[in-house]
Amino acid sequence: MKFTLKKNKTESGNPDVDLASLKIPEHIAIIMDGNGRWAKKRGLPRVAGHRAGADSVRKIVESCDILGVSYLTLYAFSSENWNRPQKEVSALMDLLEKFLKDKLPEMMEDNVRLRAIGRLEMLPEHVKAELDKAISTTAANTGVTMNLALSYGGREEIVDAAKQLVRKAEAGEVTADDVDNELFSAQMYTADMPDPDLLIRTSGEVRLSNFLLWQLSYAEIVITDQLWPDFRHDALVDALGEYTKRDRRFGKL
Ligand code: FPP
Repeated sequence: MKFTLKKNKTESGNPDVDLASLKIPEHIAIIMDGNGRWAKKRGLPRVAGHRAGADSVRKIVESCDILGVSYLTLYAFSSENWNRPQKEVSALMDLLEKFLKDKLPEMMEDNVRLRAIGRLEMLPEHVKAELDKAISTTAANTGVTMNLALSYGGREEIVDAAKQLVRKAEAGEVTADDVDNELFSAQMYTADMPDPDLLIRTSGEVRLSNFLLWQLSYAEIVITDQLWPDFRHDALVDALGEYTKRDRRFGKL
Protein backbone atom coordinates (compact mmCIF):
# COMPACT_ATOMS: atom_id res chain seq x y z
CA MET A 1 0.00 0.00 0.00
CA LYS A 2 3.04 2.25 -0.32
CA PHE A 3 2.11 5.83 0.42
CA THR A 4 2.46 7.91 -2.68
CA LEU A 5 0.10 10.63 -1.52
CA LYS A 6 1.31 13.56 0.51
CA LYS A 7 0.65 13.13 4.21
CA ASN A 8 -0.44 16.72 4.33
CA LYS A 9 -3.99 17.35 5.37
CA THR A 10 -4.18 20.76 3.77
CA GLU A 11 -3.38 19.67 0.24
CA SER A 12 -5.39 17.43 -2.04
CA GLY A 13 -5.23 16.94 -5.76
CA ASN A 14 -8.42 19.00 -5.98
CA PRO A 15 -7.60 22.72 -5.59
CA ASP A 16 -11.23 23.52 -4.68
CA VAL A 17 -11.06 21.47 -1.49
CA ASP A 18 -9.14 22.49 1.61
CA LEU A 19 -8.58 19.23 3.47
CA ALA A 20 -8.24 21.02 6.81
CA SER A 21 -11.88 22.16 6.53
CA LEU A 22 -13.28 18.67 6.02
CA LYS A 23 -15.28 16.79 8.62
CA ILE A 24 -13.75 13.34 8.76
CA PRO A 25 -16.18 10.48 9.41
CA GLU A 26 -15.02 7.86 11.86
CA HIS A 27 -16.52 5.11 9.70
CA ILE A 28 -17.11 5.14 5.94
CA ALA A 29 -19.02 2.36 4.17
CA ILE A 30 -18.79 1.98 0.40
CA ILE A 31 -20.89 0.14 -2.18
CA MET A 32 -18.24 -0.36 -4.86
CA ASP A 33 -20.35 -0.46 -8.02
CA GLY A 34 -19.54 -0.16 -11.72
CA ASN A 35 -16.61 -2.51 -12.32
CA GLY A 36 -18.47 -4.27 -15.13
CA ARG A 37 -19.44 -1.00 -16.86
CA TRP A 38 -15.88 0.29 -16.56
CA ALA A 39 -14.61 -2.82 -18.38
CA LYS A 40 -17.39 -2.73 -21.00
CA LYS A 41 -16.58 0.87 -21.89
CA ARG A 42 -13.04 -0.28 -22.72
CA GLY A 43 -14.05 -3.46 -24.55
CA LEU A 44 -12.46 -5.55 -21.77
CA PRO A 45 -13.77 -8.63 -19.95
CA ARG A 46 -15.64 -7.94 -16.68
CA VAL A 47 -12.81 -9.40 -14.64
CA ALA A 48 -10.54 -6.59 -15.87
CA GLY A 49 -13.00 -4.18 -14.22
CA HIS A 50 -12.79 -6.12 -10.97
CA ARG A 51 -8.99 -6.06 -11.16
CA ALA A 52 -9.03 -2.27 -11.61
CA GLY A 53 -11.55 -2.17 -8.74
CA ALA A 54 -9.06 -3.96 -6.50
CA ASP A 55 -6.56 -1.16 -7.28
CA SER A 56 -9.14 1.38 -6.13
CA VAL A 57 -9.55 -0.57 -2.88
CA ARG A 58 -5.83 -0.29 -2.26
CA LYS A 59 -5.80 3.45 -3.03
CA ILE A 60 -8.88 4.26 -0.95
CA VAL A 61 -7.54 2.43 2.12
CA GLU A 62 -4.39 4.51 1.75
CA SER A 63 -6.44 7.72 1.47
CA CYS A 64 -8.53 6.81 4.53
CA ASP A 65 -5.33 6.34 6.50
CA ILE A 66 -4.04 9.74 5.41
CA LEU A 67 -7.35 11.49 6.11
CA GLY A 68 -7.75 9.91 9.54
CA VAL A 69 -10.76 7.67 8.90
CA SER A 70 -10.76 4.83 11.45
CA TYR A 71 -13.06 2.28 9.78
CA LEU A 72 -13.71 1.54 6.12
CA THR A 73 -16.31 -1.12 5.31
CA LEU A 74 -16.29 -2.27 1.69
CA TYR A 75 -19.08 -4.27 0.02
CA ALA A 76 -16.80 -6.69 -1.81
CA PHE A 77 -19.16 -9.64 -2.38
CA SER A 78 -22.86 -9.80 -1.56
CA SER A 79 -25.02 -12.83 -0.73
CA GLU A 80 -26.71 -12.22 -4.08
CA ASN A 81 -23.37 -12.20 -5.95
CA TRP A 82 -23.24 -16.02 -5.59
CA ASN A 83 -25.90 -16.05 -8.32
CA ARG A 84 -23.58 -14.49 -10.92
CA PRO A 85 -22.16 -16.83 -13.61
CA GLN A 86 -19.80 -19.39 -12.07
CA LYS A 87 -16.91 -18.02 -14.12
CA GLU A 88 -17.28 -14.52 -12.64
CA VAL A 89 -17.71 -15.83 -9.09
CA SER A 90 -14.49 -17.88 -9.44
CA ALA A 91 -12.64 -14.90 -10.92
CA LEU A 92 -13.74 -12.70 -8.00
CA MET A 93 -12.72 -15.34 -5.45
CA ASP A 94 -9.30 -15.77 -7.12
CA LEU A 95 -8.84 -12.01 -7.19
CA LEU A 96 -9.71 -11.77 -3.51
CA GLU A 97 -7.29 -14.54 -2.58
CA LYS A 98 -4.51 -12.87 -4.60
CA PHE A 99 -5.28 -9.47 -3.05
CA LEU A 100 -5.09 -10.88 0.48
CA LYS A 101 -1.88 -12.77 -0.23
CA ASP A 102 -0.09 -9.96 -2.12
CA LYS A 103 -1.17 -7.07 0.11
CA LEU A 104 -0.53 -8.63 3.51
CA PRO A 105 3.08 -7.33 3.77
CA GLU A 106 1.88 -3.82 2.79
CA MET A 107 -0.99 -3.98 5.29
CA MET A 108 1.57 -4.78 7.97
CA GLU A 109 3.87 -1.99 6.83
CA ASP A 110 0.99 0.50 6.80
CA ASN A 111 -0.50 -0.65 10.13
CA VAL A 112 -3.84 -1.62 8.49
CA ARG A 113 -6.08 -3.96 10.48
CA LEU A 114 -8.18 -6.33 8.37
CA ARG A 115 -11.63 -7.53 9.42
CA ALA A 116 -14.43 -9.26 7.54
CA ILE A 117 -18.20 -9.54 7.97
CA GLY A 118 -20.69 -11.87 6.31
CA ARG A 119 -21.38 -15.59 6.08
CA LEU A 120 -17.65 -16.24 5.75
CA GLU A 121 -18.11 -19.99 6.07
CA MET A 122 -19.53 -19.95 2.53
CA LEU A 123 -16.24 -18.76 1.03
CA PRO A 124 -14.08 -21.35 -0.76
CA GLU A 125 -11.45 -22.92 1.48
CA HIS A 126 -8.52 -21.26 -0.34
CA VAL A 127 -10.01 -17.78 0.16
CA LYS A 128 -11.07 -18.43 3.75
CA ALA A 129 -7.56 -19.59 4.63
CA GLU A 130 -5.93 -16.40 3.25
CA LEU A 131 -8.60 -14.27 4.91
CA ASP A 132 -8.10 -15.89 8.32
CA LYS A 133 -4.35 -15.52 7.97
CA ALA A 134 -4.55 -11.81 7.05
CA ILE A 135 -7.06 -11.09 9.84
CA SER A 136 -4.96 -12.79 12.53
CA THR A 137 -1.67 -11.33 11.26
CA THR A 138 -3.03 -7.76 11.25
CA ALA A 139 -5.15 -8.09 14.43
CA ALA A 140 -2.88 -5.94 16.60
CA ASN A 141 -2.42 -3.16 14.03
CA THR A 142 -3.71 0.21 15.16
CA GLY A 143 -4.22 2.12 11.89
CA VAL A 144 -7.30 2.13 9.67
CA THR A 145 -9.55 -0.94 9.93
CA MET A 146 -10.43 -2.31 6.48
CA ASN A 147 -13.60 -4.31 6.98
CA LEU A 148 -14.51 -6.47 3.99
CA ALA A 149 -18.16 -7.45 3.58
CA LEU A 150 -17.96 -10.89 1.95
CA SER A 151 -20.85 -13.22 1.24
CA TYR A 152 -22.67 -10.44 3.07
CA GLY A 153 -26.37 -9.56 3.14
CA GLY A 154 -28.03 -7.11 5.51
CA ARG A 155 -31.18 -9.21 5.94
CA GLU A 156 -29.08 -12.34 6.47
CA GLU A 157 -27.13 -10.51 9.18
CA ILE A 158 -30.35 -9.50 10.96
CA VAL A 159 -31.63 -13.09 10.70
CA ASP A 160 -28.33 -14.38 12.15
CA ALA A 161 -28.60 -11.86 15.01
CA ALA A 162 -32.18 -12.93 15.74
CA LYS A 163 -31.15 -16.60 15.75
CA GLN A 164 -28.38 -15.83 18.21
CA LEU A 165 -30.80 -14.04 20.52
CA VAL A 166 -33.29 -16.91 20.38
CA ARG A 167 -30.49 -19.35 21.25
CA LYS A 168 -29.55 -17.16 24.22
CA ALA A 169 -33.19 -17.05 25.29
CA GLU A 170 -33.44 -20.84 25.01
CA ALA A 171 -30.36 -21.11 27.20
CA GLY A 172 -32.03 -18.83 29.75
CA GLU A 173 -29.45 -16.08 29.23
CA VAL A 174 -31.86 -13.35 28.02
CA THR A 175 -35.57 -12.60 28.26
CA ALA A 176 -37.78 -10.68 25.80
CA ASP A 177 -37.63 -7.63 28.04
CA ASP A 178 -33.82 -7.54 27.81
CA VAL A 179 -33.98 -7.04 24.03
CA ASP A 180 -33.33 -3.44 23.03
CA ASN A 181 -31.29 -1.63 20.33
CA GLU A 182 -28.07 -2.08 22.25
CA LEU A 183 -28.48 -5.81 22.83
CA PHE A 184 -29.52 -6.31 19.22
CA SER A 185 -26.50 -4.33 17.94
CA ALA A 186 -24.28 -6.55 20.07
CA GLN A 187 -25.40 -9.61 18.03
CA MET A 188 -24.53 -8.05 14.68
CA TYR A 189 -21.31 -8.90 12.78
CA THR A 190 -20.20 -5.30 13.49
CA ALA A 191 -20.77 -5.57 17.26
CA ASP A 192 -17.50 -3.87 18.20
CA MET A 193 -17.50 -1.19 15.50
CA PRO A 194 -19.23 2.20 15.42
CA ASP A 195 -22.05 2.57 12.88
CA PRO A 196 -20.99 4.15 9.57
CA ASP A 197 -21.33 7.96 9.46
CA LEU A 198 -21.18 8.03 5.67
CA LEU A 199 -22.28 5.66 2.92
CA ILE A 200 -20.78 6.21 -0.52
CA ARG A 201 -22.16 4.43 -3.58
CA THR A 202 -20.40 4.69 -6.92
CA SER A 203 -21.77 4.50 -10.47
CA GLY A 204 -24.94 6.48 -9.89
CA GLU A 205 -27.33 3.81 -8.62
CA VAL A 206 -29.51 5.02 -5.75
CA ARG A 207 -30.24 1.96 -3.62
CA LEU A 208 -28.93 0.10 -0.57
CA SER A 209 -28.72 -3.37 -2.17
CA ASN A 210 -29.06 -5.18 1.16
CA PHE A 211 -25.98 -3.47 2.65
CA LEU A 212 -25.69 -2.79 6.41
CA LEU A 213 -29.46 -2.32 6.77
CA TRP A 214 -29.28 -2.05 10.56
CA GLN A 215 -26.08 0.02 10.82
CA LEU A 216 -26.90 2.66 8.17
CA SER A 217 -29.93 4.05 10.06
CA TYR A 218 -28.39 7.50 10.54
CA ALA A 219 -25.67 7.49 7.89
CA GLU A 220 -25.36 10.31 5.39
CA ILE A 221 -25.51 9.01 1.82
CA VAL A 222 -23.38 10.30 -1.04
CA ILE A 223 -23.96 8.91 -4.52
CA THR A 224 -21.34 9.58 -7.16
CA ASP A 225 -21.50 8.91 -10.90
CA GLN A 226 -17.91 7.70 -11.04
CA LEU A 227 -17.46 3.99 -11.65
CA TRP A 228 -15.63 2.24 -8.81
CA PRO A 229 -12.33 1.70 -10.73
CA ASP A 230 -12.24 5.49 -11.33
CA PHE A 231 -12.94 6.32 -7.67
CA ARG A 232 -9.62 7.43 -6.20
CA HIS A 233 -8.33 9.96 -3.62
CA ASP A 234 -9.81 13.11 -5.21
CA ALA A 235 -13.21 11.47 -5.56
CA LEU A 236 -13.13 10.52 -1.88
CA VAL A 237 -12.18 14.07 -0.95
CA ASP A 238 -15.12 15.37 -3.02
CA ALA A 239 -17.46 12.96 -1.20
CA LEU A 240 -16.12 14.20 2.14
CA GLY A 241 -16.73 17.78 0.96
CA GLU A 242 -20.36 16.84 0.39
CA TYR A 243 -20.53 15.09 3.80
CA THR A 244 -19.04 18.16 5.51
CA LYS A 245 -21.96 20.30 4.26
CA ARG A 246 -24.55 17.96 5.77
CA ASP A 247 -26.30 18.85 9.01
CA ARG A 248 -26.53 15.59 11.00
CA ARG A 249 -29.40 15.84 13.45
CA PHE A 250 -30.12 12.17 14.27
CA GLY A 251 -33.84 12.90 14.32
CA LYS A 252 -33.45 15.83 16.75
CA LEU A 253 -34.00 19.53 16.05
C1 FPP B 1 -19.73 -4.26 -8.47
O1 FPP B 1 -19.46 -4.03 -9.82
C2 FPP B 1 -18.61 -4.85 -7.79
C3 FPP B 1 -18.58 -6.12 -7.28
C4 FPP B 1 -19.70 -7.06 -7.39
C5 FPP B 1 -17.43 -6.66 -6.59
C6 FPP B 1 -16.49 -5.69 -5.96
C7 FPP B 1 -15.13 -6.23 -6.08
C8 FPP B 1 -13.99 -5.51 -6.20
C9 FPP B 1 -13.95 -4.06 -6.11
C10 FPP B 1 -12.69 -6.15 -6.48
C11 FPP B 1 -12.20 -7.13 -5.48
C12 FPP B 1 -12.28 -6.67 -4.09
C13 FPP B 1 -11.25 -6.71 -3.23
C14 FPP B 1 -11.47 -6.32 -1.82
C15 FPP B 1 -9.91 -7.10 -3.64
P1 FPP B 1 -20.38 -4.71 -10.89
O2 FPP B 1 -19.71 -5.94 -11.38
O3 FPP B 1 -21.76 -4.93 -10.35
O4 FPP B 1 -20.42 -3.59 -12.00
P2 FPP B 1 -21.60 -3.29 -13.02
O5 FPP B 1 -22.80 -2.90 -12.21
O6 FPP B 1 -21.06 -2.14 -13.82
O7 FPP B 1 -21.81 -4.53 -13.84
